[in-house]
Amino acid sequence: MFKQDTIERFAEIETPFYYYNMDVLRQTLDACRDASSQYGFHVHYAMKANFNTKVVAAVQAYGFGADCVSGNEVKAAIEHGFDKSKVVFAGVGKSDKEINQALDADIFCFNVESIQELEIIDGLAKAKGKVAGVAIRINPNVDAHTHHFITTGLDENKFGINTWQLHDVVVMLRKCANLKFLGIHFHIGSQITDMEVYKNLCTRINEMQDWFENHGFAIKILNTGGGLGVDYHNPDGNTIPDFESYFKVFKKFLNVKPGQEVHFELGRALVAQSASLISRVLYVKIGQKKNFLILDAGMTELMRPMLYQAYHVIENLSQESRVKNQESRDKNQEEGDHSPLTTYHSPIKYDVVGPICESTDCFRKDVDLPESFRGDLIAVRTAGAYGEVMASNYNLRDAVKSVYSA
Ligand code: LLP
Repeated sequence: MFKQDTIERFAEIETPFYYYNMDVLRQTLDACRDASSQYGFHVHYAMKANFNTKVVAAVQAYGFGADCVSGNEVKAAIEHGFDKSKVVFAGVGKSDKEINQALDADIFCFNVESIQELEIIDGLAKAKGKVAGVAIRINPNVDAHTHHFITTGLDENKFGINTWQLHDVVVMLRKCANLKFLGIHFHIGSQITDMEVYKNLCTRINEMQDWFENHGFAIKILNTGGGLGVDYHNPDGNTIPDFESYFKVFKKFLNVKPGQEVHFELGRALVAQSASLISRVLYVKIGQKKNFLILDAGMTELMRPMLYQAYHVIENLSQESRVKNQESRDKNQEEGDHSPLTTYHSPIKYDVVGPICESTDCFRKDVDLPESFRGDLIAVRTAGAYGEVMASNYNLRDAVKSVYSA
């Protein structure tokens, strides 16, 4: 629920925009830091989830590392003050230019996704007279039980190196004098809410580290990736994820040997609940079969519902204010005035859609909302992760703006 004065503030601002609740962000970061530090775990923020400058600065202030997937993310992380010894570069398709950028920045580690990539990084490091730290991203074939579009750790996915290729990996590592093997990396998918999945991942990581050690490669880093899911259904939209239970699984099931570090790459869980997309109703279309609320925000501002059929809570904020104002008027009436009390309308089903010339440009169908009007403020909640970063200017739209709480 937004406070009344926040809604009044929104009413003054041109829509659409992302509203960042910095308190929720800080509470989330506190919770993550407290839960991870009790076990000495290292958290890297997956920059791809949201690289809004204020958000990244807030995360950096907590001393987390940065997990980057492009040369520009590496650059942005360093510009935002992340310690280069805590910057990791992952991604299935790193270009030579990006690898060189990361080598010049002396980052901590490349998470390597193919045997060919090992050879390329070795060659580029050699040309600069450097040694690059590498971790091998292994595809563990563990089902994340999440939407198939955001599953990454199955044999059919493009990510990581399959276990049947590990012999070739060690052969290559032995040949590459300009690589320093640091450890193993995994990432099986995103929006994972079933902790059993992480338990299965721990079992695979334990097997894999034994395998490497049996082949003469000591493991310093166990990087378990990210993926912790958030609650997209809570009407409040800002539930803080259960970091305690998440880290506890790894504490319990991961076989951590003396001197090893356990790394996590969390994106969504750190930022999703801190933002909402705020838009206005442009038009209301009442049809025979369907009613539409046409918003001034669409897939260009928040792509997740259209790309993954993702669910986000949708609220009519103007109606909340109308009800509050009416309630206080009704109260006055009860006390003296004898005119009739307000009757509140029962919800109407609307397809909440954007203005883009695509039929998929729909936030959700058949949403129960109070009767809504042109100009009403609509909030799409839990939009802080993979929201603003995935925005585009398709249809030559204006760039989406950001507004922050104190
Ligand atoms: N590490 C790697 C190697 C990744 O590929 C990702 C996310 C993460 C960490 C962070 O995962 P998280 O903790 O945020 O789940 N756009 C999609 C999600 C794509 C996730 C891509 N990789 C969505 O909106 O659901």
